Amino acid sequence: MTKTSKTPVTILGLGAMGRALASAFCTAGLPTTVWNRTPGTHADLIAAGATSAPSVEKAIRAGGPIITVLLDHASVQETLDPVADRMVGRQLINLTSTAPGEARELAAWAADHAIDYLDGGIMAVPSMIGTPGAAILYSGSRQVFDTHRAILELLAAAEYFGDDAGLASTYDFALLATMYAMFGGFLHGAALMRSVGVSATQFGERAAAWVTAMTQSLPHQGRVIDTADYTDPVQSIAFHKSAIDAIYRASRDAGVSSDFVAPLKNLLDRQVADGHGTLGFERTFEELS
Ligand SMILES: NC(=O)c1ccc[n+]([C@@H]2O[C@H](COP(=O)([O-])OP(=O)(O)OC[C@H]3O[C@@H](n4cnc5c(N)ncnc54)[C@H](OP(=O)(O)O)[C@@H]3O)[C@@H](O)[C@H]2O)c1
Repeated sequence: MTKTSKTPVTILGLGAMGRALASAFCTAGLPTTVWNRTPGTHADLIAAGATSAPSVEKAIRAGGPIITVLLDHASVQETLDPVADRMVGRQLINLTSTAPGEARELAAWAADHAIDYLDGGIMAVPSMIGTPGAAILYSGSRQVFDTHRAILELLAAAEYFGDDAGLASTYDFALLATMYAMFGGFLHGAALMRSVGVSATQFGERAAAWVTAMTQSLPHQGRVIDTADYTDPVQSIAFHKSAIDAIYRASRDAGVSSDFVAPLKNLLDRQVADGHGTLGFERTFEELS
C-alpha cells in the first residue's frame, strides 16, 4: 500500500542533490530528518522544517525509509556499515550513482542485514527535482517501491524496472553514455566552428535543433539492431565512413583534436576492412559487444 505524505524520511548526504531532495520533501510537508558528513551546511533546510541529526545513528532513528544520496558506492558502504545492525527490518533507498555491479553488491549486503533495498538512478540535475521532466529509475525491492511510490513521485517521475538491483543503474549509465557521446560531439563541433570565428553560444543554439531532429531516428535504429538485419540500409557504413573521414580531415586542417571523432572512425574503418561496407550504420552495434 502506498504511504501518504505524512511518511517520515531520512536523507543521508546533503550535497547538491541531497539538498534538492530534502527540500522537495520539506516543501511537501514530510517529516524530514537530514544528516551530512560535514555538519553546518544546511541551515536553509532547517529553516524549511527539516530536523538535523548529529550522527547517522540518530538520523536513522527517525523511522521511515532511509535515503542515501552520497558521492559513490564506497561512501554509502562507509556510512552504513557501522549502523547496519540498527537497520534490520528497515527500508533503504539508495539514490547514489553506483555501477550495476555495485548496486547488486549493496543489495546483497542489505539482504545479509535484513534490510529491504531499492536502488535508484536520478535522471535530473538538482534544479529539476520536483519539476516535470525529472525522472528517477528504480530497481530492487518492489515492496519498497510500491510502499513509497507516492513520496518518490514528489521528487521526480518514478519508474520501476524489476527486482534486479543493478537494472536501474544500467539504464542510468546507458542513458548517460548516450548523453556524454552527444556532449562530446558538441564540443568537437564547437571547436570546429571556433576555427571560423563562430561562437560556441551561437553554435549551441543550432546544434540543439539539429540534435533534436536527429534523435527522432533512435527508435528506428533500435528496431534495426534488434532484428540484426542490416542489409537494407538508409545509408551504408561506407557512406558514413566517407563522411567521418571528411570530418576527420576538416578537423585536422582546422587544428582541432580528433579525440572525439577517432573512435567512431576506427569502428567504421574496421568494418569496411572486414567487408561490411554495404551494410547499415547500425551494424556498428555488433562491434561493441
Ligand atoms: N548533481 C547532479 O546533477 C546529480 C545528478 C544525478 C545523480 N547524482 C548523484 O547523486 C549523488 C550525490 O550527488 P551530489 O550532486 O549531491 O554530489 P556532491 O554535491 O558532490 O555531494 C556529495 C555528498 O556525498 C558526501 N560524501 C562524500 N564522501 C563521503 C563519505 N566518504 N562519507 C560520507 N559522506 C560522503 C558529501 O559530504 P560532505 O559535504 O561531507 O563532503 C556530500 O554530502 C552522486 O552519486 C551523484 O552521481 C547527482
